[in-house]
Amino acid sequence: MFIDFHSHILPQIDDGSSSVEESIELLKMEAEQGITHVVATPHFYAHHDSPEKFLARRAEAKARLDEAMEKYPGLPRVSLGAEVYFFRGISDSDILSELTIDNKRYILIEMPEAPWTDGMYSELEAIATRRGITPIMAHMDRYIRPLKTYRIPERFEELPVLVQANASFFLRGGFTTKMALKLLKEDKIQLIGSDCHNLSVRPPRIGSALEVIEKELGKKYIDRILEYGSSVFDD
Ligand SMILES: [Fe+2]
Repeated sequence: MFIDFHSHILPQIDDGSSSVEESIELLKMEAEQGITHVVATPHFYAHHDSPEKFLARRAEAKARLDEAMEKYPGLPRVSLGAEVYFFRGISDSDILSELTIDNKRYILIEMPEAPWTDGMYSELEAIATRRGITPIMAHMDRYIRPLKTYRIPERFEELPVLVQANASFFLRGGFTTKMALKLLKEDKIQLIGSDCHNLSVRPPRIGSALEVIEKELGKKYIDRILEYGSSVFDD
């Protein structure tokens, strides 16, 4: 039961899938790679979208996808979430609980460019401690390279968050793949997402990432990702 925690698989809601047909093809690819559960995480930008409009668009896109999926047995289950771009005041926002994965206790948060301020770290902490919602930090690999530290900021180790890396982090080869494997081994990455957008340039590639992880580190690290994944859906 492998879960893709980051995907733009819903049709025509953001810069991801451009049609129901493309969404179905993306889900078929996920299924072929052994993914049984995909979290749909369309972009949400609080500064130029309203939660009501976003939720209505998301529900409409999911309904269209559900209808099409009926014809294709064996596709992964699709849960609803959002990739919520960080904004000042996020920890006090009423929107948060509506944007959690399956309306439960985890939320995918996309950070602006690093480095981050103390205030931002405090808000992430407050989301967990005051709101009881665990932030999942989206595609942490995207911030590591520009930071040129080649490590996850130490403050994250103290925060009650989970770190998600994209499958592509494990597939770039050379130093980057080594870094991805090291961070996974050190338990600094807990979840993996495809961050798939389309069939052409950003298809889902978790299957290949898992092959690299199993070959280089062994199956026990796959099992650990599985455990973290299922804990998100345990109540
Ligand atoms: Fe994304």
